[in-house]
Amino acid sequence: MSARPYIVGNWKMHGTRAMLSEARAIDRAAERLIKVEVAIAPPFTLIHATRKEAELIAIGAQDCHPADGGAHTGDISAAMAKDAGATFTIVGHSERRANHGETDALVKEKAHAVLDAGMTAIVCVGETEAERDAGKAQDVVSGQLQGSLPTGDDVADKVTVAYEPVWAIGTGRTPTPDDIAAMHSHIRSKLVEIYGEAGSEVRILYGGSVNPDNAAELLAADEVGGALVGGASLTAESFLGIIVAAA
Ligand code: G3P
Repeated sequence: MSARPYIVGNWKMHGTRAMLSEARAIDRAAERLIKVEVAIAPPFTLIHATRKEAELIAIGAQDCHPADGGAHTGDISAAMAKDAGATFTIVGHSERRANHGETDALVKEKAHAVLDAGMTAIVCVGETEAERDAGKAQDVVSGQLQGSLPTGDDVADKVTVAYEPVWAIGTGRTPTPDDIAAMHSHIRSKLVEIYGEAGSEVRILYGGSVNPDNAAELLAADEVGGALVGGASLTAESFLGIIVAAA
């Protein structure tokens, strides 16, 4: 596993050009934070501009269409995101799964499109509160990994998994570090089952209400290779608080 924690900001549907100053401030600070790998996934409309503002941090997309191109009004292909400056793409976020009915099979297709375009993929998984209460969290996550992860030779090193329990996203609630460690260890076993030895190197991020105050504790949990951050990535001040906690 990479020694450097990977801290990724997912701006979701936030951001106009006015927010480029936040990206610039994060990038300037990242210069001094070489112990952390920092990335931002702005909306598609800002990928190119953010790439130009930020020289050091990685810029990615939040989604893509699985096809190379064609009659898909309003969609963006992986190659288009790459052309705009993205080097990675998030796929299978629970908001896409819930709001757009995305299935594991579609997420897998998207992940392959991302890899085919020459980018890396962050594949998101995570259970709902009802599933956790029913004792099914690990089974749900296993099924999502099995169905959503891209497969094939030499794929594992281009994949990052983000464990985001749906009930922790934007709620201010988080699992305990022990619960996170237990799920990440489960995900690790599944990754080794799917990818063989290469699965032991895949980074596993935690996401869900990470903020500057809880980041150090959550990132210290076993098998946590970084964080996928929503709300707290929207200002340089709070995102840098997380980056500093990770360093
Ligand atoms: O992808 C990041 C995410 O869903 C977590 O969002 O706002 O709880 O940090 P937030």
